[in-house]
Amino acid sequence: MVRLKIKDILQNGKTGEKTLVKAWVRTKRGSKNVNFIALNDGSTIHNLQIVADTEKFDEHLLREINTGAALAVEGLLTESQGSGQNVELAAEKIELLGKADPEKYPIQPKKHTLEFLRENAHLRFRTNTFGAVFRMRHAMAFAIHNYFNQKGFYYLHTPIITASDAEGAGQMFRVSTFDPLNPPLTEEGKPDYSKDFFGRPTNLTVSGQLEGELGALALGEIYTFGPTFRAENSNTTRHLAEFWMIEPEMAFYDLKDNMDLAEEFLKYLIRYALDNCRDDLQFLGNRLSQEEKNKPKEQRSMDLVEKLEFVLNSEFVRITYTEAIDILKNSKPYKKKKFQFPVDWGVDLQSEHERYLVEKHFKCPVILTDYPKAIKAFYMKQNDDDKTVRAMDVLFPQIGEIIGGSQREESLEKLEKRMDEMNIPAEEMWWYLDTRRYGSVVHSGFGLGFERFVQFVTGMGNIRDVIAFPRTPKSAEF
Ligand code: 4AD
Ligand code: MG
Repeated sequence: MVRLKIKDILQNGKTGEKTLVKAWVRTKRGSKNVNFIALNDGSTIHNLQIVADTEKFDEHLLREINTGAALAVEGLLTESQGSGQNVELAAEKIELLGKADPEKYPIQPKKHTLEFLRENAHLRFRTNTFGAVFRMRHAMAFAIHNYFNQKGFYYLHTPIITASDAEGAGQMFRVSTFDPLNPPLTEEGKPDYSKDFFGRPTNLTVSGQLEGELGALALGEIYTFGPTFRAENSNTTRHLAEFWMIEPEMAFYDLKDNMDLAEEFLKYLIRYALDNCRDDLQFLGNRLSQEEKNKPKEQRSMDLVEKLEFVLNSEFVRITYTEAIDILKNSKPYKKKKFQFPVDWGVDLQSEHERYLVEKHFKCPVILTDYPKAIKAFYMKQNDDDKTVRAMDVLFPQIGEIIGGSQREESLEKLEKRMDEMNIPAEEMWWYLDTRRYGSVVHSGFGLGFERFVQFVTGMGNIRDVIAFPRTPKSAEF
């Protein structure tokens, strides 16, 4: 008999059909004569109800059917008596595939805190919440490829191990085959990287952008979608040491084209979630309102589906960094000294400032452009004012910065000058500078932090809860 997935059974199953499922027990309850077993196989947030008459099955077998155990069940689909579902399965044959000791199995059918589940990250996929999150994460990854494929962008695989620090922020994890305590030394007593695997210092990539530009300046439009690594020691709900980034890079796009693409792209993904992930969204939305039910009304967040629809229907506000600083300086929290970090032309905006602009002032997503050049990377196109660069950050409710990008400096002369000012050795970047030597054109790109976006669509408050195996300072268990 062919095995069916629970999602298919609940959507298309007809009364009277003989059916086989393989899944894990979520709950078991019942009376003397009949047992109700809720099964889940990961294909949907919903469980399939199994009805097993006590007299038909071995007493020992029934006793071993506990939360977490794996079963194969054969039977007939019957009309469901309750539970809001069309069908349930009247069991004829039950095979215990793997038992789970109820005294030891940590994921019991009760409310576990997210913190407890983080400590049991190896088993947390088995909860409704994490099932929904990881199905949605998958759907969003699929939608990203769909979007770019349909627009004629090529998926370019940029290196994980590289010799460049694309962002120039120095937050790199070194890659070396040396014994860290005993590296071969040069005559000056420094580690002799000429003897290392690659013959030079290398690190895990912080961004695929620079290599992405090489692709875009020949293939036209490319995107990367891969893991990136940053050794920033920030223990926040929005930072990971290993996160995934989507970086489109487009020849002949200026900053306006770049912003248009970012807005269309984000809206496509939100539309996709609303059209394809309804059950999981509903579940996660309810989870959120449950979590916030004791908060005063004005502090509760908007319903998840409503929030997505709201962003989908809004036109993102586009203002310059300089305008944003003016707004912040005229704001109530600034005047009442409620911001923790300073606001002045030239400072990098903190998430409290970004969220004020989005959540309180404009009440919709905001794209900030033309940041001071001193707080942005060397490759951004310089404006004529000699003070700002053609940067853009997309700011979202709940998240703050979700996208960072820019138009790129296409002039060899200006780029070399800026690198010199920032002490970036031109001889190590000869391959990058060659793109400006030969057939240089206007081009732009951006990076979307995948986990921050998944946080937004699932409503999850902590970035550790939207990646399967979070890597954060002092934590990399498996
Ligand atoms: O703003 P960032 O640093 O930009 C770049 O890396 C550019 N090279 C992108 C480009 O133009 N191609 O990072 C881009 C995005 C941020 O807006 C944020 O969403 C996410 O990546 N991000 C992080 N997400 C999780 N943990 C971290 N430590 C992150 N750092 C950045
Ligand atoms: Mg940034």
